[in-house]
Amino acid sequence: MNISQKKNYNTPVDKLSKKEAEEELIRLANLISKYNIDYYINNNSKISDSEYDNLWRRNKLIEEKFPSLVQTNSPSLYIGSNYDSGFTKVKHLEPMLSLSNIFNEKDLDDYITQVNKILGFNDQDTLEIVAEPKIDGVSASILYKDGELFIGSTRGNGFEGEDITENIKVVKGVPVKLKSNDYPELLEIRGEVYMNHEDFIKLNKLQKEDGKPIYSNPRNSASGSLRQLDPRVTAERKLNFFAYTWGASSNYFNTTQWEARKKLEELGFILNEPSKLCRNSGELIKYYNEIIEIRSSLNFDIDGVVYKLNELELQKKVGVRTRSPRWAVAHKLPAEKGVTVIDNIDIQVGRTGSLTPVARLKPINVGGVLITNATLHNSHEIKKKDIRVGDSVVVQRAGDVIPQVLNVILSKRKKNSKKFIFPKNCPECGSDTFSELLSNGEFEKTVRCSGGINCSSQTLEKLNHFVSINALNIEGLGEKQIKFFWEEGLIGDFKDIFLLENNDSQNKFKLSEFSGWGKQSAINLYKSINKSRKIEMYRLIYALGIRHVGVQIAKLLSNYYKEMNFFLDEISSATEKANQSYLDLISIDGVGPKIGDSVVKYFNNKQNFQLVKELLNHLDISYRFIDITESFLNNKVFVLTGSLNNMSRSQAKIKLEKLGAKVSSSVSPKTDYLIAGNKSGSKLSKARQLNIKILSEEDFNILLNSN
Ligand code: IVH
Repeated sequence: MNISQKKNYNTPVDKLSKKEAEEELIRLANLISKYNIDYYINNNSKISDSEYDNLWRRNKLIEEKFPSLVQTNSPSLYIGSNYDSGFTKVKHLEPMLSLSNIFNEKDLDDYITQVNKILGFNDQDTLEIVAEPKIDGVSASILYKDGELFIGSTRGNGFEGEDITENIKVVKGVPVKLKSNDYPELLEIRGEVYMNHEDFIKLNKLQKEDGKPIYSNPRNSASGSLRQLDPRVTAERKLNFFAYTWGASSNYFNTTQWEARKKLEELGFILNEPSKLCRNSGELIKYYNEIIEIRSSLNFDIDGVVYKLNELELQKKVGVRTRSPRWAVAHKLPAEKGVTVIDNIDIQVGRTGSLTPVARLKPINVGGVLITNATLHNSHEIKKKDIRVGDSVVVQRAGDVIPQVLNVILSKRKKNSKKFIFPKNCPECGSDTFSELLSNGEFEKTVRCSGGINCSSQTLEKLNHFVSINALNIEGLGEKQIKFFWEEGLIGDFKDIFLLENNDSQNKFKLSEFSGWGKQSAINLYKSINKSRKIEMYRLIYALGIRHVGVQIAKLLSNYYKEMNFFLDEISSATEKANQSYLDLISIDGVGPKIGDSVVKYFNNKQNFQLVKELLNHLDISYRFIDITESFLNNKVFVLTGSLNNMSRSQAKIKLEKLGAKVSSSVSPKTDYLIAGNKSGSKLSKARQLNIKILSEEDFNILLNSN
């Protein structure tokens, strides 16, 4: 079918019936997606910019007239290029850590006491700490080789990110050549890419004029702009870079954090200011309060301040934890508030059938973030706060948390306002709703839909969860694609995902002929589906989306039952509270009756049980015991070379293996780390060639101590 020839293609928006509008939105979403692929992936735009913009505009106009019809794959819901396949992965020479948070003065005192204790100082000793703003942007690492920008990358998972070399070159504050002549051969500079407020507002104005979606906050716009496949687009977006730390540096920075900041400046970087060298917690708190005062006058978003031990020697001594350093900590800023009006209250149906009321707000900018929705949690919350459509309310935003409605401003309430009545039936499928009786004899606050897999919303949410990253992790099968397959009637439950390829090759449908899909994307999808068939038992348990069963509980269940069919047999015989299977289940350390009951309830449902049984036919399930505090070195492949000062290679091997790592004798593309001692030879050069992370003995010690 040629989608651009459908009958409503030219009908003016105000003449469209609801049904026609829906057809148009589906057509436009698919068409824009197809053109995006041509543009971003194939670098071969099939239409002119103005034709493309017209499609956007028409989509937007229809959505404005029929807001309830907005498609989940609507172009207005994603921004810029969603197609990240254009970036290759690069390994960082040193991991990019994140920061742990503190929230108040007591936390700060505890932190300082802890650091003093590690260092063997007493509280009266002066501990110099550098305080600086924590920029709310996108972190990036820039590797300089012989003073020239060599590779730019995103943080990614901390060990490897995406190669954004061409894009980082057009960011203000990133020297392509280092300014001073004093630099080590390899230097990894870390910092934050951000968009300042003026440019953010300008960009959104343009987006709006062009009928394109607006970005909800400067961080998202920085991230989207940095990950454009065309660096010219990135350049237009006017991004900036603050440098605040470094990775590999051959000890180039070797005195203090404060001196290091100066050196960064000398190299040509711009620093995040205002910063302050503090000597006690009183000075830190003073700095923190000053930052709160000036926050709204800054031209960029901040979400906290960062405290860093000044002496680099002391930084080394206190070391790092698994994911964050002990030598630094982020002090979060309080949530920001604003007043706006509730335009509507919608009810969303989740994976486990929970009905969550969501306030649709008149858009309001709170601390640089455009807020349009706030969660109202449940019917009790609405009742307790007597929240009504049309009310003026105080909303609060705290970091990435969904904004909350704090209270209603009753003095602004309209005379004719009516109490909100929570629906008695599921708004998606019409099934009855219920609240569960809890073990304490009270009813839970959440209202649930009883429709189970007959409720389209629940099914879609379940499928989305099933393919998500900690579950089957099927690349290329996200919410948009799940919705597409579901609407086409090609996926109704878990097992259908694994039947797609077969049905396609038997000509029951032809994926490559659907708009938005081509031969290659179909091949890629089937490849990643097939890859996901080999799955660890705990991931599969998690993927089923059983209430209260997160990754940790799934690991406990997998560790205990060890075999999927045995698990199913046991759970399905755990019907009576007193029987042995039930008692076994709830006696697993960390499980208990609440979770146990939920697991039993899930498998007692015949449909669920059947679905899982059918699914098993398509999977190759493996089991291994999982230490739930599993270290991030688990399964990482190490090679040791040269001699170490403080231990023999075989001692190092034992230590690594204790942490779940594997030690191999030769360097290959599968190697994750090479530990290079004194006089390392060919292995070192091979590892360099293969871009494998190289650890010094000192790095290795930090790694061991952080686990
Ligand atoms: S230092 C070893 N300093 O915050 C940790 N990070 O939540 C190095 N960030 O991933 C980070 N401003 O992207 C540092 N002044 C600052 C920062 C900062 C923002 C980001 C950074 C990090 C994240 C942690």
